Amino acid sequence: MKIYGYGRQSISQEDIDAVVEVLKSDFLNNGPKIEEFEEKICEYTGAGYCVALSSATAALHLMMHALNLSEKDEVITCPVTFLASANCVRYVNASVNFADADIETGNISIDEIRKKVTPMTKAVIPIHFAGQSCDVKAFSELREKGICVIEDAAHALGSDYEDAKVGSCKYSDAAVFSFHPVKNITTGEGGAITTNDRELAQRLKRLRSHGMNRNPAEFVNESDGKWYYEMQELGYNYRMTEMQAALGISQLKRIEQFKQKRRYIVEKYKEIFAGDDRISFLTEKKFSNACWHICPLLIDFEKLGIDKKKFFNDLCDAGIHPAVQYIPVHLHPYYQNLNFKKGEYPTAEKYYAQTVSLPLYYDLSDDDVEYIGEKFLKVLNNQGQ
Ligand SMILES: Cc1ncc(COP(=O)(O)O)c(C=O)c1O
Repeated sequence: MKIYGYGRQSISQEDIDAVVEVLKSDFLNNGPKIEEFEEKICEYTGAGYCVALSSATAALHLMMHALNLSEKDEVITCPVTFLASANCVRYVNASVNFADADIETGNISIDEIRKKVTPMTKAVIPIHFAGQSCDVKAFSELREKGICVIEDAAHALGSDYEDAKVGSCKYSDAAVFSFHPVKNITTGEGGAITTNDRELAQRLKRLRSHGMNRNPAEFVNESDGKWYYEMQELGYNYRMTEMQAALGISQLKRIEQFKQKRRYIVEKYKEIFAGDDRISFLTEKKFSNACWHICPLLIDFEKLGIDKKKFFNDLCDAGIHPAVQYIPVHLHPYYQNLNFKKGEYPTAEKYYAQTVSLPLYYDLSDDDVEYIGEKFLKVLNNQGQ
């Protein structure tokens, strides 16, 4: 029996050759590929600066660090996300607050953000859920109040917002990408921050490598000699390797191809399920042209009298291993211990109750998509029998 996971990488011979070439070269880290990858990401997104990192989680952490947050500060994000979007705030001991999602898109609702903003709010982290950009222009009113907008674009490399690529930071302070294997391009593990703020980018580059500064013009103390460097603030080792960067450069060449295929597969699923009023898809907004990272369906299991657990298990037994994205962050025990309550974010919870993500990745053929669609419907039709 064929087994389909919800996402996976697509690795070409060119990708393999690019990594092997680095393995045979002089540099496995701190070499030319990192800079090249950063330049390519800038070229592609239109951002002024890019900082390549070991993961999007590291990127989110460094961004929170770079905002100099303390216990008195608060950051707002959406509960419909992977844990990292909220955990990064806790890494710097600031408070997380959530603004509920919009059920049509799974994206954070600007109306809900407005209700949550307080004088303590220093930043918001909107997630471009499933790859669809939030309406980032709407966040301008927050920036006018001095609130930073950090786009969690982990799902959204390749996506457009109006006439710009996600990551251009036209309407934000920075954007964070993930290159985990299921993402739109991969470096194995990996992440990046794009921004148009030169000083921020330079600081992030120091923070990714222990806070070390090697620029003599910026030394606090007198240099001891050519070997001299200074640690001016506490940083981390969040560096990407040369092999990862080489893979990223090679993968980025195919991003438009990846996007086209991802959109094509989503359309194909829509055709297969057309007319079935039990199943709905996320609504794509006019301002968006998404590089779909995941393909969530919404099914009102409760109304249909279907046990979602059984449905999920039956799908797995049929070889379709979907994902449920996401368990709302505030429902995890760690966040419950911070006093978030079940029922507090009704849309996120309703979304969670209804969602299931179909397999979506570049190497799925037409036959695969048809097979998955048919199996999915068969399992759905068999519920309650
Ligand atoms: C929305 C979102 N943000 C952040 C991350 C963290 O990415 P990484 O695995 O690169 O740390 C993920 C990972 O799935 C994600 O989905």
